[in-house]
Amino acid sequence: MTNRTLGVCYYPEHWPEDIWAEDARRMAETGLTWVRIGEFAWSRMEPIEGAYDFDWLDRAIEVLGAAGLKVILGTPTATPPIWVVEKHPDMLAIDDQGHPRKFGSRRHYCFSHLGYRTECTRIVTKLAERYGGNPHIAAWQIDNEYGCHQSVLSYSEAARAGFRDWLAQKYQSPDALNRAWGNVFWSMEYGDFAQVDLPNLTVTEPNPSHELDFRRYSSDQVVAFNKLQTDILRAHTDAPLIHNYMGRVLEFDHFDVGADLDIASWDSYPIGFLSDRMDAEPDHIRRFLRQGDPDCQAFHHDLYRAVGAVRGGGAVHTGRLWVMEQQPGPVNWAPHNPAPLPGMPRLWAWEAFAHGAETVCFFRWRQVPFAQEQMHAGLLRPDSEPAPALAEAAQIATEIADMPETETASAPVALVFDYASSWAWKTQPQGADFEYFHLALSTYRALRRNGLSVDVVSSDIADLSAYAMVVAPGLATIPAPLLDALGRYEGIALVGPRSNSKTFDMAIPVPLPPALPGLDTTVSLVESLPPGVEVPLSGGALIRWVERLEGSAEVVLRCDDGHPALVRSGGLHYLAGWPNDATFAQIVGDLAGAAGLEAFDMPPGVRRRDTGSHRFWFNYNSEAVSVAGHSIPAAGVHWERRSG
Ligand code: GAL
Repeated sequence: MTNRTLGVCYYPEHWPEDIWAEDARRMAETGLTWVRIGEFAWSRMEPIEGAYDFDWLDRAIEVLGAAGLKVILGTPTATPPIWVVEKHPDMLAIDDQGHPRKFGSRRHYCFSHLGYRTECTRIVTKLAERYGGNPHIAAWQIDNEYGCHQSVLSYSEAARAGFRDWLAQKYQSPDALNRAWGNVFWSMEYGDFAQVDLPNLTVTEPNPSHELDFRRYSSDQVVAFNKLQTDILRAHTDAPLIHNYMGRVLEFDHFDVGADLDIASWDSYPIGFLSDRMDAEPDHIRRFLRQGDPDCQAFHHDLYRAVGAVRGGGAVHTGRLWVMEQQPGPVNWAPHNPAPLPGMPRLWAWEAFAHGAETVCFFRWRQVPFAQEQMHAGLLRPDSEPAPALAEAAQIATEIADMPETETASAPVALVFDYASSWAWKTQPQGADFEYFHLALSTYRALRRNGLSVDVVSSDIADLSAYAMVVAPGLATIPAPLLDALGRYEGIALVGPRSNSKTFDMAIPVPLPPALPGLDTTVSLVESLPPGVEVPLSGGALIRWVERLEGSAEVVLRCDDGHPALVRSGGLHYLAGWPNDATFAQIVGDLAGAAGLEAFDMPPGVRRRDTGSHRFWFNYNSEAVSVAGHSIPAAGVHWERRSG
């Protein structure tokens, strides 16, 4: 956790040039190190095709750099200007209803469109040639938030052509594809790859194997689109290459994209997320309205620390993580947009640092009085007076300077996270509210309610021995190396529910799931349950998803109706349902104890995180709490050196 720094997102093209220098001076005075610019400015860099204007950008970089700021330069490919669209009318993404996603906002491109990729190659090459050696450019951001605004899946002509090629390469013959997908069902067999269409606008649901392959194909296009840009930039710069992932966007494999990037960053909008994308109950939303969900940010930090480790190839705690955009005040895009409690921007930043972030950049410097985001707060008001978060940013900067260096460390618990499982359960949820991210977050919450620090790891992990405990909920297919690792593992593992229940081709495997090494248990029946229906077990309940098990595995926990809820052989456990929050915390706490970990019953809304040298406590409540001898103010943070 060395080199902690702060930054801000800035749009010089939005402001008169004569205030840039004063802005830069105030950024530096606040204690900010980084300023991100450029990611939406294509129409100012190339107003008409081939007529480049970089003079203003040269001057902006010079002014910011002269103030001592390090610049992160964004490639502007998330916002192709109108002339690009006029030149390539078929580059627009097409939604699943067949409608074009028109010009007039952003992210209106289809990842599969080769003509658009050529345009990107050109503008990125220009930027790389011009700024690759610029001493003020200390990092690059590629594009902006792949997948935001549901922009990965596109049902365009370009996608259709690309998908057919992808299938031909994967299956080599239509017969092989027919077998893999089970196309004998409903006479869906193909004689030629050119007959395969995209899986939208079918009368009833398309074949899930077809849809899953389309999701895999679509993810691969994001990876290819990103790599196109990183290949160009690496030829001109040694500065780190970064993408700013958007929270809870799952439509592409971030680990695959991360393989071509040096740092994983994400955009953290805790209050926006709470009401917009956390599946939260109304009571939970009311309680954390001005703080955000206590586990959402930490989960993403842990996930992206792992994504940031892919290219480096090291242990996940060594992964390079940033928060590229940090909510400073009310946003404009959630159903309702409350303001953070005083202290929350500071809490969010310190939580990011405690989870390994090197840098936290606030979005944005000054609230812009025009266009779509005019209601989105910044560090300054539109009249350039300080908004509340400015003072918090300055406080964090002072604290960073005073804080002794701390170390990152491997967490004792690993949570396996797998994008393909999200696609599998989106494709075939079986229960309307069975959602992979939600299951992973429920598991993570259960661990954190026990005060445990967690490393998120990808499903291609082949050695679990660094961890005392491993949890792997809902993996549609457990890759063979992970299955082997589970067989060898000497710690405590919790697998399930719904684990290993599909083949890679999205069929039911026989022998039936979960087919875990050395664990004699078979899922004989599954049920999904509507909201409000529970299957009780001692002191708790299963909700949403329940499995019946048969076999000789030792039963650890039974439902009140006698069916096993948790079974095991040695340290390997299988969970036959989705426990409610309290039950999940209880199960995980017991297993942590068996793993020799110190499980601590955290007060509601309080979370902690251990680094190699410090223990951090975060109070997401709107009132002060006392915990472990510490009094932590509302929306407050406490840290202490770890003993031993
Ligand atoms: C992010 C995006 C920014 C800005 C921000 C507003 O998703 O990257 O450009 O739109 O949201 O909260």
